[in-house]
Parts: sequence; C-alpha cells; structure tokens
Amino acid sequence: MKGIILAGGTGSRLYPLTRMVNKHLLPVGRYPMIIYGIDRLRQAGITDILIVMGKQSAGLFIDLLGSGKEWEVHLTYRIQEEAGGIAEALELARSFVDEKERFVVLLGDNLFVDNLKPFVDSYMRQSDGTAKILLKHVNDARRYGVAVFDPNHPELISRIEEKPSVPLSSYCVTGIYMYDTSVFDIISQIAPSARGELEITDVNNVYAHRGHLEYDMLKYWWSDAGTFESLQEAGRKLKGRQP
Ligand code: G1P
Repeated sequence: MKGIILAGGTGSRLYPLTRMVNKHLLPVGRYPMIIYGIDRLRQAGITDILIVMGKQSAGLFIDLLGSGKEWEVHLTYRIQEEAGGIAEALELARSFVDEKERFVVLLGDNLFVDNLKPFVDSYMRQSDGTAKILLKHVNDARRYGVAVFDPNHPELISRIEEKPSVPLSSYCVTGIYMYDTSVFDIISQIAPSARGELEITDVNNVYAHRGHLEYDMLKYWWSDAGTFESLQEAGRKLKGRQP
C-alpha cells in the first residue's frame, strides 16, 4: 500500500501568507503542515509516499523533507505545473503505483488525529474497483463535499454534493480517500467542472453511481486548515503533539 499527499493549489483563502509559501509548509503547532500527513501515513504503516506539489516552494519541500529519511519514510515528488484540480493532481500519481495496487490519498491540508490503520485494513477487504472515503460529522457542512446516503444500502453513499447551500446530511467528505488503479480510468473520463478543474467529487460520484463507494467515519478531531480560522484552530489543537 502506498500513500499520496496532494500538496499543490494556490491556497487563495490564506492570502497573503500563501503568496510567499505553499500552504502545506505553513506552521501548525511546532511543525510545517505537511509533516502531519506524513506522520498519519507512517503510523498506518505506509512509508512509500508521493508528494504532489506546485512549482511554488518546491525547493523548500526538498529542504524540509529530503528523501524522507529523517521522518522514516521514502519520498517521491511530482510537480503539478498549474492548479487544475485535485483529480488532475492525483492523475500525476499514475506511474507511482503498480497495476492493481491500492493507495491512500490525503489532501495535505487535512489534519486529524485518528489512526488510519483500521480504515486501511477495512479497505483492503473491499472488492477490486471500489473506493472508500472517510467522513466526519460537522456542524456546518456547507463548506465541504457532503455525503448523501443510499436509503436501501446505508453502507453506501448514493452521491456527494459539493458545497451545497442546503446540505442533505451533516457528514462532510474529508480529504482522505482510498482507491485502486481504477481511479485513473475514471479520471480520464470526467470533464472539467465550471471552474475548469477536474474535481475529486466528480470522481467519487462515478464510484457512488456504480454502488462502489464505501465509507467510514473519523472518530476524533479533524480539520481542513485551508482558512485562517481553521489554520489557527489546528495550531492550537496540535500544539503539543509530537509527530
Ligand atoms: C475539497 C473537496 C471537498 C472536501 C474538502 C475537504 O474541497 O472538494 O469535497 O470536503 O476538500 O477538505 P476544497 O477544500 O478543496 O474546497
């Protein structure tokens, strides 16, 4: 099992901080944000990790992480030339994984304290060609992708609505996804969204329409640190944590 951390994007909700430096290098507690994702993968036994990043700050990622040795992982890097969406960034991982291999994808701004191991183990028991996403109960789901459940098969998600004004559930889709290589066929079939990007929600909705999208729930604290408020909250929450 391999891990992929998507650490590109413009981080526009964090301007002007992200004009200077990639969002995933901003400090959260005592560490740059990217360290926490690496730590969560390593804790689950996943040490072969690809980092997909933009051109901005690419040298700083190498300065910080190098080969990954200090963090007890083996790192590979790919550059996403222009921000073209999460699914486009994931497409760059195609040659990193072997045929039929399974992998965990993390959005690098998703910070959490759950151990991923039980979720990974349960994904390994799923059939080929299926995916698993992790959900979190939130008070205001409008900022996120929101899961709509299949009433006849409550273990499945019937669809995901991206940033709906009226959410149909309180379960947001976190940026923690598990796929096999079927995901690359799906990415090649989807079209860019209205904002011109390949959306991960469109990918997950293909699995959902096939009845192939399973889920688990994160039990403990989770945040996406993409705004000033959530970045500050994450800093407070993770201040004392030692990856
Ligand atoms: C992305 C996804 C969204 C998900 C969120 C989690 O949104 O599109 O479905 O809920 O990550 O962090 P973004 O934060 O890129 O707007």
